[in-house]
Amino acid sequence: MTERPLTIGDLAAKKQAGDAIVMITAYDYPSAQIVEEAGVDMVLVGDSAAMTVLGYPSTVPVSVDEMLMLTRAVRRGLTRPLLVGDLPFGSYEASDALAVATAQRFVKEAGCDLVKIERGGTTVDRARAIVAAGIPVIGHIGLTPQTATALGGYRAQGRSAEAALALIDDALALQDAGCSLLVIEAVPAEVTAHLMPLMRIPVIGIGAGPDADGQVLVLHDLLGIYDGPAAKFVKRYADLRSAAVAGVGEYAREVRSGAYPAAEHGYRMPEGEADRLQDLLAKGR
Ligand code: KIV
Repeated sequence: MTERPLTIGDLAAKKQAGDAIVMITAYDYPSAQIVEEAGVDMVLVGDSAAMTVLGYPSTVPVSVDEMLMLTRAVRRGLTRPLLVGDLPFGSYEASDALAVATAQRFVKEAGCDLVKIERGGTTVDRARAIVAAGIPVIGHIGLTPQTATALGGYRAQGRSAEAALALIDDALALQDAGCSLLVIEAVPAEVTAHLMPLMRIPVIGIGAGPDADGQVLVLHDLLGIYDGPAAKFVKRYADLRSAAVAGVGEYAREVRSGAYPAAEHGYRMPEGEADRLQDLLAKGR
């Protein structure tokens, strides 16, 4: 595995070679270090942070400043993988100028290599404008959480032939607008299978079957840290939440019983200093 920072060209080469692209989310410095050490290719500071680390009920309320703070922390923990900033709801939809200005903040203030925006439709124009400003873009179609209400909730998209065709049209429009990659979320595997022969850019799936060029998952879902409702496509690779609750519970028990701290967790004065202190206190200094 190369140690130099990856480039978008490296991802295109992986697509050509049929090597799967591994993408994951991270939201802070330690999680960035963990996913880097694990050897992932691309790290997304997703607006899923709204729910997984900030406690909002959906991705909608998170602000640009909150996302930038998290993204900067991830930047400090990464060397090799590409860093993707996620433009939050309301920060790019209204105009090309707004989209470019927000994307520039993610590059300039948080060191992102690419930015991700959701949906087809007018987002295609925003993607074209950001690309024209020199910033690589990832499109995101299928289940787009920022507009989940309009999609009828958190449910699979593209289940009918007509709906699937509309998704494929969105994918092609985003590709033609100059997007470097595409994320496709929560669609039947058959839709991805029909889409793939049409795509020149790498496609990253999440709940979109095995045919995409790579996969992305939310770190807190796969590590079992987040205890909110999990989508069908989430696979738990660890149960860190239970381990964390058990560890903190043991700490609380030991503090209450006096078992912590033990002698080895503290400091001692050099030989004779405690006696001297006692003398000083006895003499009134
Ligand atoms: O916000 C996020 O984490 C995402 C991924 C699920 C693709 O958009």
